[in-house]
Amino acid sequence: MIYRYNYNNPLNTGAVVKNISYQQQGQDFFAQRTNDENTIFTRKMDKDDIVFGLGETLRGINKRGWRYESYCSDDALHHEGKSAIYGAHNFLIIKNENITSGIFIDFPGKIIFDIGSKNYCLMEITVFGKDFDLYLISGNNEQEVTTQFRTLIGKSYIPPLWAFGYQQSRWGYRNAEDVLKIADEFEQEGIPLDSIYLDIDYMQRYKNFTVDKEKFPDFQAFVRKMKERGIRLVPIIDAGVKIEEGYEVYEEGVKNNYFCKREDGSDFVAGVWPGKTHFPDFLNKKASKWFGNWYKTLIDQGIEGFWNDMNEPAIFYSEEGIEKALSNFDKIMQKPLDVTGYFALLDNFNQLSNNREDHKIFFHNIDGKLYPHNEVHNLYGFYMTKSASEAFEKISPNKRVLMFSRSSYIGMHRYGGIWTGDNCSWWSHILLGIQQMASLNMCGFLYSGTDIGGFGGDTSEDLMLRWLQFGIFTPLMRNHSAFNTREQEPFRFSLKNEMKNTIELRYSLIPFIYSTFIDAAINDKMYFKPLSFDFPQDKRAALVEDQLFIGDEIMIAPIYQQGAKGRYVYLPEDMVLVKFKSYGQRTYQRLKKGDSYISVELDEIPIFIRKNKAIPLIKPAKNTDQLDWANMEMLAYIEDGESYTFNLYKDDGYSKNYTSFIKIGLENHNDELTFTEKPNINISLTNI
Ligand code: GLC
Repeated sequence: MIYRYNYNNPLNTGAVVKNISYQQQGQDFFAQRTNDENTIFTRKMDKDDIVFGLGETLRGINKRGWRYESYCSDDALHHEGKSAIYGAHNFLIIKNENITSGIFIDFPGKIIFDIGSKNYCLMEITVFGKDFDLYLISGNNEQEVTTQFRTLIGKSYIPPLWAFGYQQSRWGYRNAEDVLKIADEFEQEGIPLDSIYLDIDYMQRYKNFTVDKEKFPDFQAFVRKMKERGIRLVPIIDAGVKIEEGYEVYEEGVKNNYFCKREDGSDFVAGVWPGKTHFPDFLNKKASKWFGNWYKTLIDQGIEGFWNDMNEPAIFYSEEGIEKALSNFDKIMQKPLDVTGYFALLDNFNQLSNNREDHKIFFHNIDGKLYPHNEVHNLYGFYMTKSASEAFEKISPNKRVLMFSRSSYIGMHRYGGIWTGDNCSWWSHILLGIQQMASLNMCGFLYSGTDIGGFGGDTSEDLMLRWLQFGIFTPLMRNHSAFNTREQEPFRFSLKNEMKNTIELRYSLIPFIYSTFIDAAINDKMYFKPLSFDFPQDKRAALVEDQLFIGDEIMIAPIYQQGAKGRYVYLPEDMVLVKFKSYGQRTYQRLKKGDSYISVELDEIPIFIRKNKAIPLIKPAKNTDQLDWANMEMLAYIEDGESYTFNLYKDDGYSKNYTSFIKIGLENHNDELTFTEKPNINISLTNI
């Protein structure tokens, strides 16, 4: 059951699609109090309660024991001391011995979720405002609560099939030659590839919707030629619009009042990559429509996907901030520089970037009413992506366009995916990625992934390989890195063959990954699940932080520790461990329910097939267009007397006419595996 409670005059954020009437009585789940500006909810937790949710945050799958801030933040250092990164996903599940409850606070400003950090047995939620909707969901377990929540917030975004292939990115591909070189290397090494990303350098002086003619003399022809080779180019779009006379986007925006304004009606100025920029007011319907239409200029040149960035929005400095810092500087320098002065000097300039004071001085025009940015801050990235997606719907109504964003709020999952932003080439960030995928799936963000290999810092060869071994399971599988770091395309490494085998395995798994993804998107299920979602009674399973189920058929337990040649795993049921060195080279091992240590060499990828389940595998190919779905192998672990039906999903890969699932029914009769239902394709059977 979902219960909705009203607090004063909430803004319609667009997160929810199902109309649920308000409860007449107030809620009694939380104790609640207010002060001048905030609403504070508290609830006692039992010592063994587990708390799931919060989407894109740091720390574990179980959120217990830390304080999280819901306030989209451009922060490139994702360490455990941080409280907020790019997303604001205010959904939690409290799993108690007796009841499981879901909580969603639909509020676009700041919220602090203290989940037992101050006091281990107390949850304290501070909403920095008084106008919002609170939803309480009851269910028998975490799976049921999540499914109900997902029906409340609407269906998840589905990208085209090619977006499930391997994608190569780097901030540093400067021009057509650079991109060509990358494509050639992949081809020479025979490493599969579906797309190459264009970071900010493709633009003319970082101006959205422009292409630098010196770097890409004939962009349209270039896009076409790459596509003929099976490679899509995916350009970045940033939130800020460069202030430059003669630049059409800027001029139109100013003329029509489409940019966020200061209190005096002038357009707010923020420094980002292009220098001084204005921020489109995506919360203003006309401005949103206008900005969205600009994507057409690139679509008309053959582009089929985009990534939206810097949309928290990231602010390097504001004009007001600079003025204040300069005046502070003068004040500090009037005295001889002692140690206090020195640190004041450092802070003075360091605090220019992403300073939340700036959020109070610019405004959005929502249906004629002005809102200071800080009050609706968490919607900015969501509405940028919505603006693009609504435009795609008009430009090519029946074609899926790849779209994912850095900043997001619940509701955006209907319009695009997300990537988890500027992580680092650290082992701990593989684990963080595993944990983030689980929490993101609860909030509907199915098309997601990490910067594989790490964005910041120099990657190492073993880290890269281990990260790829996890990355082959994320729907968005993109290797991305920052411009001044070690180059990390797979062909740069002495372990390139192992990396190639890993990427090839991804392609072999695409029928499984795509089918599971579409099933999750269409039927409000999860692609990645923590173990307790399928074993809610298993107390041990609820504590597992580094293993995930994918769909109903497999479990993954990636290696995320330097030097490790194996790891401990917990199995809530009997499974078969398949260790792949490549698609064709594998070993099988039956494992019993309980704890096990498994050895996993650097070049091995472990996949656990669950009891009485089966998955499809096909031969790898150069790219998704060339995959042969008509020759398949079912890899099964079905015991004597048992049967299983896998729902295979196959369509044209780009249109929105979702077709029905194809059933592959298998049965083990006297230790012989046979079909109970077989589509008209070649299928071989391997039962382990
Ligand atoms: C931001 C993005 C990163 C991108 C860079 C340059 O840091 O998160 O992915 O490469 O900007 O555009």
